Amino acid sequence: AEKWVLMVTARTPTNIAVIKYWGKRDETLILPINDSISVTLDPNHLCTTTTVSVSPSFDQDRMWLNGKEISLQGGRFQSCLREIRARAQDVEDKKKGIKINKEDWQKLNLHIASYNNFPTAAGLASSAAGLACLVFSLAKLMNLKEDNSQLSAIARQGSGSACRSLYGGFVKWCMGKEENGSDSLAVQLADEKHWDDLVIIIAVVSARQKETSSTSGMRDTVVTSALIDHRAKEVVPKRIVEMEDAIQKKDFPSFARLACTDSNQFHAVCLDTYPPIFYMNDTSHRIISCVEKWNRAEGTPQVAYTFDAGPNAVMIARDRKTAASLLQRLLYNFPPQSDVDLDSYVIGDKSILQ
Ligand code: PMV
Repeated sequence: AEKWVLMVTARTPTNIAVIKYWGKRDETLILPINDSISVTLDPNHLCTTTTVSVSPSFDQDRMWLNGKEISLQGGRFQSCLREIRARAQDVEDKKKGIKINKEDWQKLNLHIASYNNFPTAAGLASSAAGLACLVFSLAKLMNLKEDNSQLSAIARQGSGSACRSLYGGFVKWCMGKEENGSDSLAVQLADEKHWDDLVIIIAVVSARQKETSSTSGMRDTVVTSALIDHRAKEVVPKRIVEMEDAIQKKDFPSFARLACTDSNQFHAVCLDTYPPIFYMNDTSHRIISCVEKWNRAEGTPQVAYTFDAGPNAVMIARDRKTAASLLQRLLYNFPPQSDVDLDSYVIGDKSILQ
């Protein structure tokens, strides 16, 4: 076989929803039952780094996650690979004397190596960063002409929340109306410079893998919860409008109220699922109480909190001074346990996790 390898490396941050996505109307295409809004973290924080390579000497598609080989046979990986290959273009690297015609991508095999700098599947949206990075790096390798919004619709088929990681800043995933999912994609609401006073602090309460995957959790919720319809049809549409407005105006009190109440409602819907899903634990609840007490004492919100499909707290402080004070309070009230030590705090722009 010819001896050449062409590769691309990309890094994609994770995103944290402030209006949550929970529930699918189509499981294969991953179409949600409501819009959602997220904030993408700084690329230096929680991120996935992925290198994709192609060579005529590779005899099959293979992937490694954090150094361990994983199967690419799952339907979601296959959907992403199929959608990207279908849009591949000619690629030429004159220096290396490589020319790949677009038809060649159907036969050429890929090697994919991906690293997360944070716990995988612990409710810190590792799949969001991972699938967004996979789609983005493959799109670069194969010279796709699609813009980030169109790529987001491909990433969505790998993991719903991944579609929001194709952009920085504040991002909305529009649920769309089409049955084929063509309009279920991400749009940027504001870029990363728009509201850069905000500081995001993540307290890793547990790095253990979550017990209920978001896929099976959502399925059970949609089938059994008596509240989910009300949430998707009556509550979220209003909150989306209010949240967009709060972001445009950098109105922190409204932003915090919406983010906190939406996180609480998502967990209420989980509890309303049968059998019930518990993502938060006692420590999560204590963190909520601590932030709520503080916000009340100040008379106006200083910090917003939100929790995804796990017990880890994501807190958004209104500015750096508030963030410093929040860290102090967290360290005082939640001293790291002997077996966990300081590694379990991921702090602002300095990740001291691993
Ligand atoms: O994209 P998934 O299947 O990992 O689901 C993510 C669901 C939440 O993180 C709980 C909410 C969200 O909007 O990200």
